[in-house]
Amino acid sequence: MLSPVVALDSAHRVQTFECGDAEIDGFLHPRAAGEQALGLSQVYVTAGAAHEVLAYFTLSPLTVRVDPSLLERLAVGAVPYPQIGGFLLGRLGVDKSIQRRGIGEALVMRAAQIAKAEAAVVGGAFLAVDPKTDGLVRWYLKQDFRSLGGKTRRMVLPLRAVP
Ligand SMILES: CC(C)(COP(=O)(O)OP(=O)(O)OC[C@H]1O[C@@H](n2cnc3c(N)ncnc32)[C@H](O)[C@@H]1OP(=O)(O)O)[C@@H](O)C(=O)NCCC(=O)NCCS
Repeated sequence: MLSPVVALDSAHRVQTFECGDAEIDGFLHPRAAGEQALGLSQVYVTAGAAHEVLAYFTLSPLTVRVDPSLLERLAVGAVPYPQIGGFLLGRLGVDKSIQRRGIGEALVMRAAQIAKAEAAVVGGAFLAVDPKTDGLVRWYLKQDFRSLGGKTRRMVLPLRAVP
């Protein structure tokens, strides 16, 4: 049984988390709490009965340069700014023990809902991700993210489209 998605706190056990990506595991173990304390990102987790983290994601504010591809993907007309703001889904991991049960997809949706709620307070047009592989690009495409093209795999989800 998984807990609701909450902010990481000192009661959570992070040591046993293993999603199969060393960088994503390694962020949670020593760094996540410290970065959250500094305000560099907010870490959201879902945990098991013994407070062991079983999945997590991070969110932070993000400003990106306006270009025609971005405006098209967001279905926004011309804007009088060189940059516009949104949020970055920076890291996402699901423990190997519970992968392939729809939890990753559910967490992406939860992240988008949190970003949308924040956008209602401070503004923000998109949730961005930087998938590490072409396979993950396809996974995010199924969740309505749109590729920006260019040299990176960056993708955006317009927050207006989030229920
Ligand atoms: C990617 C990840 C978060 C998905 O979590 P999950 O709970 O297993 O995802 P869901 O159950 O919602 O979806 C499963 C689908 O994700 C896709 N998927 C999962 N990992 C994938 C990968 N590495 N490459 C491509 N597609 C992948 C597959 O389409 C899979 O469907 P299938 O089982 O029919 O093949 C999880 O596998 C994970 O933590 N991976 C390691 C860390 C990582 O790569 N994070 C993403 C960084 S952008």
